[in-house]
Amino acid sequence: MKNTFGSAIGITLFGESHGEAIGVVIDGLAPGREIDREEISRMLTLRRPSGSISTARVEGDEYRIISGAMAGYTTGAPLTVIIPNENVSSKDYSKIKDTPRPSHADYAAHCKYHGYEDYRGGGHFSGRITAPLVVAGAILTSALAKKGVHIGTHISALHGICDRGFQNICEDIAMLRKKSFPTLSDDAEAKMREEILYARGQGDSVGGVLESAIIGLPAGVGEPWFDSVESVISHLLFSVGGVKGVEFGDGFGLAELYGSEANDPFCIEDGRIKTKTNRAGGINGGITNGMPVTVRCAVKPTPSIYKEQNTVNLADMTEESLLIDGRHDPAIIHRARVVIDAVLAIAVADLLTVRYGTDYLSEKSESKREKR
Ligand SMILES: Cc1cc2nc3c(=O)[nH]c(=O)nc-3n(C[C@H](O)[C@H](O)[C@H](O)COP(=O)(O)O)c2cc1C
Repeated sequence: MKNTFGSAIGITLFGESHGEAIGVVIDGLAPGREIDREEISRMLTLRRPSGSISTARVEGDEYRIISGAMAGYTTGAPLTVIIPNENVSSKDYSKIKDTPRPSHADYAAHCKYHGYEDYRGGGHFSGRITAPLVVAGAILTSALAKKGVHIGTHISALHGICDRGFQNICEDIAMLRKKSFPTLSDDAEAKMREEILYARGQGDSVGGVLESAIIGLPAGVGEPWFDSVESVISHLLFSVGGVKGVEFGDGFGLAELYGSEANDPFCIEDGRIKTKTNRAGGINGGITNGMPVTVRCAVKPTPSIYKEQNTVNLADMTEESLLIDGRHDPAIIHRARVVIDAVLAIAVADLLTVRYGTDYLSEKSESKREKR
């Protein structure tokens, strides 16, 4: 099982939903970067379930940094974060061992790991593993903010209910940072919450579309071909369980247009080269063009639902009906938002570090050695 991502900054995830602990190792972090505990706490809180629109499994997410930091700053050595699992009820999942949940990872994991996989609570495939991913993302989000790079995500659609699009992206991102249910319009939030509760009442679940914007990225970041900005970002977005589609800028909509409608004409504003529209989502030829990077991802409905479903019994090789118990989110999209923010921060930090070097995200422009 290879669980490492990144060219200049490597992220390795470990742990299982009902194991002793989950965590992340971040390698390639610049030394002298202050660990922003407030940002970690803010982002973990947004990921944590709360209220009737989320799972009843609530974890404290008491994390410990056990290597790579000293006196509140990164040392430059691999930084390891551990989050113990506390609120675990494995008995709920005994059924999954032989009767895989439709559209979850149970059967695919069984085929890959020959029955040795930890199936409890989705094991290594559980949404729970996104908690350490969020810690890694929070450390990098704070580092990026110091460089003027800001990231925000909102639920642009949920089961047919639409939010307004980004307008003043800078102000919208600042507003979204504070919202536990990430919509730009209050009306959309009320309707979406109602829809999630309706699905929950039916023993069902709903999905939706998340729209993200990254501002402050300089032009010229990214590589042509294989490590294009789109490739790196979508690699990370598709790593998040439940993400099934990704598009940049106007994405699939561009396919419907004439070139004259799809192109973003260049202009000069305040002495800076910009484009009048941003249908390409801030990326040309795999490389940033200085406009906001915009990306949308489709999040499917939570696979674990409380309706009867067809499955198979792997031990008996018979077809069976399945009624899932355990604790599950009727929608994951509002919690997945901060996971998406986190992976975008990881992607951008990696791209910037490749472009400008390993000290780019360091807080101190002068190293201790240079001062001596
Ligand atoms: C934050 C978060 C929470 C999740 N919670 C659940 C859950 O409670 N129940 C569930 O069946 N799936 C949950 N998922 C989705 C599964 O992790 C995902 O569907 C599964 O790993 C299969 O991957 P795939 O949907 O990408 O094929 C969650 C995902 C995220 C990102």
